[in-house]
Amino acid sequence: MDFNIKTGQPEKQRTSCLVLPIFEPGKLDELTIVFDNHAKGIIKQLVKLGDISGKIGTSTCIPNPCKGIDRVLLIGCGKKSEFNEKTFREVIKHMMNALQGMKPSDVCCFLTMLHIKDRDISWKIKQATKIAADACYCFVEFKSTKAGRLKSVKTMTWFAANKREVDKGSAAVEIGVSIAAAMKTTKDLANTPANVCTPAYLAKAGQSLAKEFKKVSCAVLEQKDLKALKMGAFLAVAQGSVNPPKLVTLEYRGTTKSQAPYVFVGKGITFDTGGNSLKPADRMIGMKYDMCGAATVLGLIRFAAMVNLSLNIIGVLAAAENMPGGQASRPDDIVTTMSGQTVEILNTDAEGRLVLADALTYCERYKPKVVIDMATLTGACVVALGYHHSGLLSNHQKLANELLKAGIISGDKCWQLPLSDEYTSQLDSNFADFSNIGGPDAGTITAACFLSKFTKKFNWAHLDIAGTACRFTGKAKGATGNPIPMLADYLLAQVK
Ligand code: BES
Ligand code: MN
Ligand code: ZN
Repeated sequence: MDFNIKTGQPEKQRTSCLVLPIFEPGKLDELTIVFDNHAKGIIKQLVKLGDISGKIGTSTCIPNPCKGIDRVLLIGCGKKSEFNEKTFREVIKHMMNALQGMKPSDVCCFLTMLHIKDRDISWKIKQATKIAADACYCFVEFKSTKAGRLKSVKTMTWFAANKREVDKGSAAVEIGVSIAAAMKTTKDLANTPANVCTPAYLAKAGQSLAKEFKKVSCAVLEQKDLKALKMGAFLAVAQGSVNPPKLVTLEYRGTTKSQAPYVFVGKGITFDTGGNSLKPADRMIGMKYDMCGAATVLGLIRFAAMVNLSLNIIGVLAAAENMPGGQASRPDDIVTTMSGQTVEILNTDAEGRLVLADALTYCERYKPKVVIDMATLTGACVVALGYHHSGLLSNHQKLANELLKAGIISGDKCWQLPLSDEYTSQLDSNFADFSNIGGPDAGTITAACFLSKFTKKFNWAHLDIAGTACRFTGKAKGATGNPIPMLADYLLAQVK
């Protein structure tokens, strides 16, 4: 799907599908009134008949409303007084769903002309483009018949009020397209099952990204390199699997070398069985998604390269498979991390923090401006926040505030939890410097407390994306592409 932006009147378009808003209770927007007069009042008649309510989630399609327009699709936008950012996103989604059942070759959408408090045309176009492009996503790699989504729509044209808005909106189109492309990279990797998507597969994905973009380079550290670096925690997680671990680093150079980089670290457990602390069968389903953090890092590097961000960005993927077996680590094992601190592994299912511990220590060498890690780290985070906020914990409040703000702007939100000392004693160990579990209480916080022992030397934020990066069951099962939108907005704000 290609995207355009222009100005114009609805009735003057030649299109296979015109999209106009309709408010509750069957109230026509100014735009829609002008069009309706041109179309001999056909919309008003349908409202009068009670066929159009304007409720959110409803839509009505009228064929041949006037010359040059094959159909007009009226999208219910709810009460005009309540129209806001959230309902805007909803109606764009509903429009895409409605289009899915039709076969227009092009769409002229006027929903982007609706007024939203505090949000300008750039925001509207970026959101709409991202949602529309993402709506075309479907993962058919492993289906014998490769059905697509919204294949007939070749061009989507957004409408803006004037030339100035068109200029601003054009840049936003490019950003929206890039966010959706980044989300696709992340979702494809995450949805690929663990018998295909191994640590080596993630490394290959990194290398091919580097081939694709001149400003991106990739390096892969092998098991022997991790040994040389004394990454005892990382290695302990990987040692039960026949698929060797990889520490994949990506470098996007968008500005002079002297500028300290933004470093993103991703948990890349390609499958989490729990190891010898084996997960029950029903809890193991979906654990191919335990590499969503790493997949997000790859997506984000793609985004940076596509929009040519003038920042330096480093990606670090901690890729390993957590399997039980004769070589696997066991509860009570004690390992020495790259930092020199020792860890008593009391539960091999708390493996994410172990790989991240060494990956975070590794980040010190970049002298980073900030380090942000993303991990499907704790089931406790899903209990606490469900599916609509990532957990955010940070040792630097300014960074936390910037992420919270990016979350609100993008609609891909996070919620801060306290990273405070009192919780640290839950990690006390009789035999090592600390243990890798903190008991049943405040599981997301104690996991972050564990990570914080490896992040003393830089400004750091941790995003627990266990509830937001994917859905584990039902029709929506699959990767979501979150938190790409939040982090894309965070980076864009850093450039300004
Ligand atoms: N990958 C899981 C966390 C997870 C669970 C993500 C469910 C998404 C859905 C992580 O490695 C894990 O197993 N965490 C344990 C930690 C516990 C042993 C302290 C958990 O959450 O149960
Ligand atoms: Mn686990
Ligand atoms: Zn895990």
